[in-house]
Amino acid sequence: MATSFPIGIFDSGYGGLTIMQEIVKKLPGYDFIYLGDNARTPYGNRSFETVYQYTLQSVEWLFRQNCPLVIVACNTASAKALRTIQQKDLPLKYPDKKVLGVIRPTTEVLGSFSETGHVGIVATSGTVSSNSYTIELQRFSPGLTVYQKACPMWVPLVENNEQETKGADFFVKRDLHQLFEEGENIDVLLLACTHFPLLLPLIEEHVPVGVKILSQGTLVAESLADYLFRHPETDVLCSKNGARLFYTTDDPIAFNNRGSRFYGEDVKAEKIDL
Ligand code: DGL
Repeated sequence: MATSFPIGIFDSGYGGLTIMQEIVKKLPGYDFIYLGDNARTPYGNRSFETVYQYTLQSVEWLFRQNCPLVIVACNTASAKALRTIQQKDLPLKYPDKKVLGVIRPTTEVLGSFSETGHVGIVATSGTVSSNSYTIELQRFSPGLTVYQKACPMWVPLVENNEQETKGADFFVKRDLHQLFEEGENIDVLLLACTHFPLLLPLIEEHVPVGVKILSQGTLVAESLADYLFRHPETDVLCSKNGARLFYTTDDPIAFNNRGSRFYGEDVKAEKIDL
């Protein structure tokens, strides 16, 4: 009989490890299992249908590992697939399982960080074109002026360990200058992609002085802790032995080498096929 019922954390690649790092800090006693779909990353430029299919396959794999709850720790997948999974697949096939994303916990609080009421969002092309952030922010902070900037080069730069090169500097500088030219009153910049915290030193160099830069890890971790507190019926299903397991759809050696940069400590992954 199974004894481990971990919380699943999914991302298209390594980015979700930046979210997992904060979740583990907040909820150290729980068991966690991470799945990175590295073989098919990046998701950022893919169609709705493709991102939905890939995300569903990954979530279903995590369900088969006994996860009662899965966090989709990828903005692109949260924007393009989460709603369909929550509204169509769960009621039909997995009525006892829960799937949460990263956009809701972020948009619930984003407005409270801004004094000017002008916020900037940098994300993948897929997240920007889905308009998920602007739609959700309308609900939680209706007066907020939102400027979005798609930064399609940033994920490939990070995935290829190029985040400290002149090439990365060129793209980060160019994209941020365009964003702040348009939104000169922006006082909060949201990194709405789980890969972007690795570009933080460069981003800090190219945002105007005084602008607050927000990563999502702590926001998602706090929201998850609150969710488990408010839903004891789900909390009781999650096992709590402090276990961490890592899986990838691509080469596990590469995952171990690169993943530690995102997670902040060593990771040891196994390969799976979806
Ligand atoms: N990490 C994903 C996100 O937060 C993007 C990576 C990708 O494009 O696959 O949006």
